[in-house]
Amino acid sequence: ILLNCTGSDHQEYIKQQVQVKNPYLDTMEEDILYHFSLSTKTHNLPEMFGDIKFVCVGGSANRMKSFAQFIHQELKLPGNPEEVRDICEGTDRYCMYKVGPVLSISHGMGVPSISIMLHELIKLLHHAQCRDVVLFRLGTSGGVGLAPGTVVITDKAVDYSFRPQFEQVVLGKVITRSTELDEGVAGELLQCSSELQNFPTVIGKTMCTHDFYEGQGRLDGALCSFSHEEKLEYLRKAYEAGVRNIEMESTVFAAMCRVCGLKAAVICVALLNRFEGDQITSPHDVLVEYQQRPQVLVSHFIKKRLGLA
Ligand code: URA
Repeated sequence: ILLNCTGSDHQEYIKQQVQVKNPYLDTMEEDILYHFSLSTKTHNLPEMFGDIKFVCVGGSANRMKSFAQFIHQELKLPGNPEEVRDICEGTDRYCMYKVGPVLSISHGMGVPSISIMLHELIKLLHHAQCRDVVLFRLGTSGGVGLAPGTVVITDKAVDYSFRPQFEQVVLGKVITRSTELDEGVAGELLQCSSELQNFPTVIGKTMCTHDFYEGQGRLDGALCSFSHEEKLEYLRKAYEAGVRNIEMESTVFAAMCRVCGLKAAVICVALLNRFEGDQITSPHDVLVEYQQRPQVLVSHFIKKRLGLA
């Protein structure tokens, strides 16, 4: 294919590939994706994963299994959705399910956990020669001035100072990377939300913190070094800066995808309004339904892209 490409076709072809930014990778005889229990020598990655077009990641292993079963039904694929197999069953770090062109993977909680998973996922997509892939993080979050159940599509992931950047310490020095997400995919998702019934959705900034309690200004952790008024002032500043929800993975997700040329989106449901409290008090069945909302939205997006909706 490449031989027949003109200059601009070739550039487009390269752009659609998953670009790892590490010159050492090509010199390695084998690449062991340790936390997935997969390797380039023991697994035929292009055969296993070459047709992947949509990668959906989320914190909880159970939720990502349910998503795999749900998308199996939505895409009307043959076979029993109950029988989806965990490709990473050789490890209990992450789980991974492949359903047609969709990969569903769990990433655990927080930046370090998702970042390890993303290094191996991006290498996997590269080794498998996947092209034209869109990544989605489907999560839960604390809403900032939003009713519980509202879905937030992130336009920019921001840090604790509301800056659209992610700081990584490399060899003792701080490297700063941009956290802007794909505008086109976010717009398409917003359009999809308007086509669903009773589906409150907003677009806004998502603040990523390194902690659920003090880091998110909660008064109910084991430690708390600030007053109720100080908490509300911080949330008010966040709201004024355009922040609509708070979670713990979006900045590194956005930064890594951007550097590697992957289109990416973050879709999180707000479980509570942080101006009104800190504890998550909604009944279990209500929370289960909220957590399905990002899945329903992304499923609608995928079906539209595949011409099935
Ligand atoms: N996840 C978070 O990080 N914060 C919340 O408040 C809820 C879910």
